[in-house]
Amino acid sequence: MTDWIQRWKNGKIGWHRDQPNSKLIEFIDCLFLKKNDLVFVPLCGKSVDMLYLIKQGYKVIGVELSDIAAQQFFEENKIDYSIRKSDKFTIYSAANIQIYCGDYFDLTYLDLTSVVAVYDRASLIALPLALRERYAAHLYSIISTGCRVLLLTLNYPQSQISGPPFAVNKEEVWLLYKTGFDCQQLQCFNDLENEPKFQRENVDYIEKATYCLRKN
Ligand SMILES: C[S@@+](CC[C@H](N)C(=O)[O-])C[C@H]1O[C@@H](n2cnc3c(N)ncnc32)[C@H](O)[C@@H]1O
Repeated sequence: MTDWIQRWKNGKIGWHRDQPNSKLIEFIDCLFLKKNDLVFVPLCGKSVDMLYLIKQGYKVIGVELSDIAAQQFFEENKIDYSIRKSDKFTIYSAANIQIYCGDYFDLTYLDLTSVVAVYDRASLIALPLALRERYAAHLYSIISTGCRVLLLTLNYPQSQISGPPFAVNKEEVWLLYKTGFDCQQLQCFNDLENEPKFQRENVDYIEKATYCLRKN
């Protein structure tokens, strides 16, 4: 955890993008969202995908370890915010978004009672295997039945380069989520041509996959 905090302090946030993720835009319909629905964004960083969701008329609750990330989200997007403290979190709030600063594993079902969907980009794949198992089990325990999850993953030969992001293949997604979720892979393709860092490391391939899950 200290490593993530340090990355934010040092501005080493190579995963951050300044445009909304194209797969969020392409596949958001699989979440069956209605106006004002609340979307949970775990390990949210300062993702502009949250801004995209707000602009589509949805509400967002994110969780993020780093206060720097939360502050930068609001300041860079020129959104006025207030801050309050709960037992485990510092909560940054504006009209349609709240970012809970603290540990994802401290969130409970009570924090997410109104959530109808989850958007996971670079969250599951940010974690090493043992934590991914905890992450998926915890997600199951804090969201409601019927909640849908749009999950984006990467898969590449883990022996050729170390994470994060970590390689997560289809079999692992199935193992992590098959108990308790219906899982559907929506898309999977090799995108090495758009990944110069992986090309420089002579990685054989980098598959990008999109899944839609639904909690049973
Ligand atoms: C790879 S980044 C992805 C951020 C965001 N999802 C995006 O697409 O830009 C992973 C983020 O998870 C945060 N993080 C890591 N472990 C966490 C935890 N246990 N609880 C909350 N946030 C965590 C890190 O600080 C970091 O901002």
